[in-house]
Parts: sequence; structure tokens; C-alpha cells
Amino acid sequence: MDQLAVGICGLGTVGAGVFNLLEKNAEEIARKTGARIRIAQVGCRRDNPHCDLTNIAVSRDIYALVNNPEIDVIIELIGGTDDALTLVKQAIANKKHVVTANKALIALHGAELFQLADEAGVSLKYEAAIAGGIPVVKAIREGLAGNKVEFLAGIINGTTNFILTEMETAGDRSFADVLKEAQDLGYAEADPTFDIEGVDAAHKLTLLASMAFGMALNFGAVYLEGISKITVQDIKYAEEIGFKIKHLGIARQTAKGVELRVHPTLIEKSAMLAQVNGVMNAVMVISDAAGETMYYGAGAGAGPTASSVVADVVDILRAAGDAQIENAGFVLGAIQDLPVTNISAIESAYYLRLNALDKPGVMAQISTILSQHNISIETLIQKDLHKGEVPIIIVTDCVLEQAINAAIEELEALHEVVGKLMRIRVATF
Ligand code: HSE
Repeated sequence: MDQLAVGICGLGTVGAGVFNLLEKNAEEIARKTGARIRIAQVGCRRDNPHCDLTNIAVSRDIYALVNNPEIDVIIELIGGTDDALTLVKQAIANKKHVVTANKALIALHGAELFQLADEAGVSLKYEAAIAGGIPVVKAIREGLAGNKVEFLAGIINGTTNFILTEMETAGDRSFADVLKEAQDLGYAEADPTFDIEGVDAAHKLTLLASMAFGMALNFGAVYLEGISKITVQDIKYAEEIGFKIKHLGIARQTAKGVELRVHPTLIEKSAMLAQVNGVMNAVMVISDAAGETMYYGAGAGAGPTASSVVADVVDILRAAGDAQIENAGFVLGAIQDLPVTNISAIESAYYLRLNALDKPGVMAQISTILSQHNISIETLIQKDLHKGEVPIIIVTDCVLEQAINAAIEELEALHEVVGKLMRIRVATF
């Protein structure tokens, strides 16, 4: 094959990035593949001023592209799960390969789409859906193919990492102000609550876990918590006791089942994941032969995401005529319905912050409640009295989630404890 014709559906931040990268690096790609990737058509609601569309066939109807017999690969960058699903199904039915950056689409409809792609003998590739420019799908599917993956943890949402970093370094900036900057930079989802409340990270964790463990895509079973309750105060207290707060996606295979969880986590300052700042992402994978490996790079933005989209197109070009690469990373028949462990049965250490009245015996009551639930205290710090209340910071040893929940309920019921406790899990890897 000396040429591959692509149709780009969607010309927003990522679409424009892909368009411009294919134009800019056409020679470089030809040097690597011996072939040309030609943009046969672009489908978009409106032109993007960052793209020179002179001499490019443009349609306002994205479905024109999937019905264009010239096109070999549909690049789906419209986002969402309604039109995108119909479009991708139609493309597969028309025997076109599909490359997408749409994590929600694959997390929610991947099983059906992989089946359809398998039957049609086409590729359905989604490197750009996870961690922007980091080739983590390739690393797991190809680089670690000889391993059994045991565990992975990652900072997989650039927007939340950007916000947490700004809260840490410029503590006086409001949450809304930092979020607005992330939106202006093109990092945030169309609905930014997907970033802030952990939905986007849960989509990506669903894909990573299925790729790593060969388990069915199970977005509904992911436990998720966002960053909207994290305060600058928590970040400062965590810092004082040697930790950073990061929003992590964690997947672990244990004898009980698979843990799938997305939540803020205290990580020791010296850990590599704690050094990942701003919009950068990182995924750490532990597998039986390679041991610990880590993948780092920009998790969002036009250039990095386009890099992964174009890499998928290049893969399709290189594989043309060869045996089909397994889209899902595992043979479809070998994908298992692995049980997902309920969050209440998961063990973790915890950071607790509570405000107590300045009265004698409060500490004793708190310690008693924790010990009644077999919860050992690793660190306990009483901060300075502020407006009649004393902030108390506790870090526990590893304990079952259900035990900490029961203890929190009793602590909050104490007359001397004001308001709700802040609870953040502490990384134990
Ligand atoms: N909103 C996503 C993020 C974009 O911030 O990571 C990349 O998937």
C-alpha cells in the first residue's frame, strides 16, 4: 500500500491538531512507512481557523465521510456517545478502520464495537483515548504482552492534575479560575464535571483495566470520587506530613477480584507519581516479568492527543494486508467477566481531617473510637486553635474501607466534632 485515505470527523482542538500534524509531518511519516496518509475529507460543523482547508473536501455532514468509498480510515473526534456511536458503527459496517480519541465511547460501547470490528475485519484503535500523548495502550498491549499485569495506577486526567497543581503552588487562586484556564487551554471535557468528579478518569481506567487484565469493559463498576471536596488546607496539611494529593485511577488484581477505583490519594512526596504536575499524566504498571514500569507525558491538548491518533493511523497503514491486530488487546473469546471488588472490601490507609472543639478529653474519645474499630494511628497532629476549633489530622495504618466508614460515622456523631470529616485514601504501593 502506498497511500491511506483518512476522513477526519470533528475539527475541534484535537481534530485541528490531527489535521495539522498529518500535514506538517507528512514527509516524516512517509519516511517511516514508505506511504502517504492523505486527508480525503473533513467533516465538521464549522471550519477551524487553525486549519488551512484550501484544497480539502469539507462536508458539514459527518455521515458523508463514512459513505465516501475513497476513505479507508475514519478518525472520530466529535466526542460524546450518541452521534459518535452511530458514526463508528456505520463506518465499521462500511468496512472502514476507525481511530478514535473517545474514551466514553469505548468505555460504554467498546464490547459491541470490538465485536463488530472483529466481524468486519477492521481495526478500532483508541490510543489517544487514554493519557493523551503517552503511548500507554501500545506499552501494555505490545511492550508488556509477555507479562501478566498485576497492578496499575495513574494520573489520567490532565485537568484535575492541573487544578491540584495550581492549588498547591498558587494557593490563592479560586477553583473556578483554574478550571477556566484549563478550559481555555483545551484540556477540559465539554462538560467539565466529567473531569472534576472523576468520570473521565473512570472511563480511562475502564479501558486500561480491560487492556491490562483482559477483563470485560465495566465502567459501571468503577468506584469514583472527584476532587471538588479537596481544599487548599488539605493540600497544605498533606505537605506537612510528607505527602502530595493526586487524583489517581487504580486497578489491582487480588484474590478477592479486581479493584477499580478513581479517587484523590495521598502519595509520599518522593514517589514518582507525586512529581507529575500540571496537565502531565503518568501511568505506573506492575507486571510479573518487567516489574514496575512507568509512562509519562502530556495527558491532554491538541499536539499530544494528535500524536496518539496519528500513531494509530500509522499502525493501520503498517498492518495493511497483514493479520489483524487484536483491537481489544486480548482475543475476544478470552475476555473474562472478572468480579470487581466492592469498595467496602478494599484496604487502604487513610488521611482524616476533622475540626474538634477545644475541650479536654476530645483526643481520648477520638482514639477510643478508632481503636474500637481496630484502626491504628500512624500520625496524629493537632493544629493551632482557630475560631474555637482545633483541626486534627490523622493518618491511619491500612484498614478495611467498611471499618473506616463506621469509625467516621461515630466520629461525626461526637458532640465535640464539628461538621463532616475529610477522608482521603493514602497510597500503599
Ligand atoms: N479532559 C481530559 C483531561 C482530556 O483533562 O485529561 C484528555 O483526555
